[in-house]
Amino acid sequence: MSDSRYFFPVLVEIIPAKADQEPILANLMEFYAHDFSEFVELELGPDGRFGYNSLSLYWKEPGRYPFLIKAGGTLAGFALIQEGPGISGGDPVWDMAEFFIIRGRRRRGIGMKAAHELWRRFPGKWEVRVRERNRGAKEFWAGAIAAFTGQIVPPTAFQKNGVLWQVFSFLSD
Ligand SMILES: CC(C)(COP(=O)(O)OP(=O)(O)OC[C@H]1O[C@@H](n2cnc3c(N)ncnc32)[C@H](O)[C@@H]1OP(=O)(O)O)[C@@H](O)C(=O)NCCC(=O)NCCS
Repeated sequence: MSDSRYFFPVLVEIIPAKADQEPILANLMEFYAHDFSEFVELELGPDGRFGYNSLSLYWKEPGRYPFLIKAGGTLAGFALIQEGPGISGGDPVWDMAEFFIIRGRRRRGIGMKAAHELWRRFPGKWEVRVRERNRGAKEFWAGAIAAFTGQIVPPTAFQKNGVLWQVFSFLSD
């Protein structure tokens, strides 16, 4: 049976999250953390939530940008962007701190469209870090960045606190 969801392009919207929408981000963050708990040691708190300590900083500190991602008019994920020194500690870069599409909406191009729109909105140097063990996300970023820049961008491996990462560095202009 054919599924029309795969044939009609869906409108993907990137919506800056306001401070009163922090609880929405906090809810989505739980799903994200649950996904990550498959390969990162994350402990649930006694309240049954993973929590994300620095979430409220996104409405308090400069250089932090929280977004909700909607697809076809309904909530499908979120992105957190921050400006920082980058892994080499050089010039400031845009860092895709967290990025998430809910499971039921995956593999429909929503993540790719959302990432491209975010990169367009923040021109300049970008870094996208991904844990080596997060193989699906690594494939996703490699493809999304190649489609955005028009070239293959090989990631660089680095290690921090015993965790292996890959980082993609590229320019949005
Ligand atoms: C990674 C993630 C954002 C991808 O979102 P998505 O909306 O499913 O991605 P898209 O549909 O735009 O995928 C575009 C292409 O990326 C690649 N891709 C996406 N997910 C993939 C996976 N799990 N394994 C391998 N390739 C993948 C495919 O080439 C895909 O095209 P195809 O579906 O035609 O094969 C989503 O799976 C997610 O939120 N994962 C959990 C959180 C996470 O790991 N975030 C990244 C942190 S670094």
